[in-house]
Amino acid sequence: MILVTGGAGFIGSNFVLDCIATEKSPIVNLDKLTYAGNAGNLASLKGDARHIFVKGDICDRALLARLLHEHRPSAIVHFAAESHVDRSIHGPADFVQTNVIGTFSVLEEARSYWSSLAQPEKGRFRFLHVSTDEVYGSLGPDEPAFSETTPYAPNSPYAASKAASDHLVRAYHHTYGLPALTTNCSNNYGPLQFPEKLIPLIIINAVQRKSLPVYGDGLNVRDWLYVGDHCAAVRLVLHRGRAGENYNIGGGAEKTNLEVVNAICTILDEIRPNALITHHSSLITHIKDRPGHDRRYAMNAKKMADELGWKPGERFETGLRKTVQWYLDHLDWVENVTSGAYRKWLDINYGHR
Ligand code: NAD
Ligand code: DAU
Repeated sequence: MILVTGGAGFIGSNFVLDCIATEKSPIVNLDKLTYAGNAGNLASLKGDARHIFVKGDICDRALLARLLHEHRPSAIVHFAAESHVDRSIHGPADFVQTNVIGTFSVLEEARSYWSSLAQPEKGRFRFLHVSTDEVYGSLGPDEPAFSETTPYAPNSPYAASKAASDHLVRAYHHTYGLPALTTNCSNNYGPLQFPEKLIPLIIINAVQRKSLPVYGDGLNVRDWLYVGDHCAAVRLVLHRGRAGENYNIGGGAEKTNLEVVNAICTILDEIRPNALITHHSSLITHIKDRPGHDRRYAMNAKKMADELGWKPGERFETGLRKTVQWYLDHLDWVENVTSGAYRKWLDINYGHR
């Protein structure tokens, strides 16, 4: 039994679906169902006794204590977070609450539960904290990729809140011996990603012939990883990673935002041509930059390769094509998540730019 937090979000739901399909291990899934969480992502598990969904907040310590006591998991995989940089700029308070206080709550209850275990369960228990490359700050064009020893230099309220949570996890291992591991991953893309993030937002806007908003000059670089590869890496770290260690996970696919947006447009020109426009790329619009926008991220995933034999399975070109096709095939899912609240967000983030 694994306790997963945030398992109705983008990466969490992909992880839960993969885990149940490949490992058959039962999962208790604790998720608050914020705007980013969608129980519909897990619809295919309806009636499956291996998946127990609990709607609740990771800041609710009594609930966490009850779930740990009742289900006696052998691991916690902690995905729950506020995850969108732009939202952290408009409203950082939720990020401090969920990412810092929430992680602290999960750690405290995990420590209490783990301390009460007898061997061999105590020795086998693992706490896996899912974090991001953004904690390392921004790279210059010729600087080497982030490694596990790169000093932390978070630049957005989101990155700062994730960095704080990483430090708490490290301290709980160092001080109390909690068998904790942290993974820091680069930008994910794939099915079920909420369309506030670049790739799904561009796909959906392009299909609807809306403008494709590119911040600033569009030359910021991200290192893209297909979500299924991230989930496989997390499972590997959970089973074979060394407690107390950090593992960097990356796609080895550095792209400028303009390259990504143009690649989506080219795929759509081919598989969903629109009679009213010659090229989807004609919809690209450069808009005012994100404040404090990190220029470049890149991950050195050598430790994952050397210690655990992990490497990404999906190439960016094929992964992106699959992702575009997934959104075209799931316009009902898109319709469902882009409700009134989503439109309000578009107005807050893009209205004044
Ligand atoms: P997401 O925003 O899609 O999903 C977050 C999930 O957490 C949602 O289901 C939401 O309902 C839930 N949640 C939020 N606050 C909660 C709370 N207080 N209590 C319980 N549940 C709560 O995020 P994602 O993109 O799937 O990211 C998952 C994790 O991976 C995050 O910790 C994020 O920092 C990290 N990460 C994301 C990426 C990426 O590219 N998306 C890359 C590296 C790391
Ligand atoms: O690097 C890992 C991180 O990747 C995760 O920790 C975050 O949870 C995740 O949101 C993501 O952060 P980014 O800020 O890199 O992702 P986003 O999709 O918001 O933006 C990707 C790039 O595209 C970034 O340089 C900003 C730019 N962008 C984004 C949006 C939404 C645009 O140019 N236009 C847009 O409309």
